[in-house]
Amino acid sequence: MELLKKKMIEEGAVLSNHVLKVDSFLNHGVDPVLMDAVGKEFAKRFKDQAITKVLTIESSGIAPGLMAALTLGVPMVFARKRRSLTQSEDLVTAKVYSFTKQEENTISVSGKYIHGGDNILIIDDFLANGQAALGLVELAEKAGANIAGIGIVIEKSFQDGGRLLREKGFRVESLAEIESLEDGIISFKQSKAE
Ligand code: G4P
Ligand code: NA
Ligand code: NA
Repeated sequence: MELLKKKMIEEGAVLSNHVLKVDSFLNHGVDPVLMDAVGKEFAKRFKDQAITKVLTIESSGIAPGLMAALTLGVPMVFARKRRSLTQSEDLVTAKVYSFTKQEENTISVSGKYIHGGDNILIIDDFLANGQAALGLVELAEKAGANIAGIGIVIEKSFQDGGRLLREKGFRVESLAEIESLEDGIISFKQSKAE
């Protein structure tokens, strides 16, 4: 997705060989025009899948997830990383290990908002080691839903998540794929849609 790649080049900061900071438009500040385009691109790629719901995870998955849901004409639900005061009934949970933070967290969603008969599109901002996406897969499956696919804004192809998810048979659509961040340069993998 050219608009996204342009933003990454213009505003992204390569913090190390592994981490790209994109706080100006995705992880802190959010660019509504870009998110609108991101949502439309996800909707285009999954339009024939009869999606009934978008599932994402707080916080940075919410903006792209919401815009995809809006275009697809379906509701969005986000998994929580912390239990909320009012969230109590029918909780479905999964454990997610973060390699970055070296800690395990429990994520959750209410079974009221995802259930059997749902055909889920999972959306997230970054795909690194894939642990967050696998946690969302577990939540959806525990809730009895089907997973139609996984949409990622930025995939780091040099980490294991994409391979892991595709090997499990999931359709993963990433709008920008980073092959390398070495020497402070973002090298993109040429994707099939371009
Ligand atoms: P994993 O799910 O793929 O295994 O990822 P990991 O635990 O390594 O990632 C932890 C957090 O760091 C996640 O956000 C993830 O989106 C983010 N992240 C991973 N790699 C990058 C990167 O290169 N650049 C940026 N900007 N973020 C990255 P989070 O802590 O859940 O935060 P948020 O959703 O509240 O923003
Ligand atoms: Na993030
Ligand atoms: Na995320």
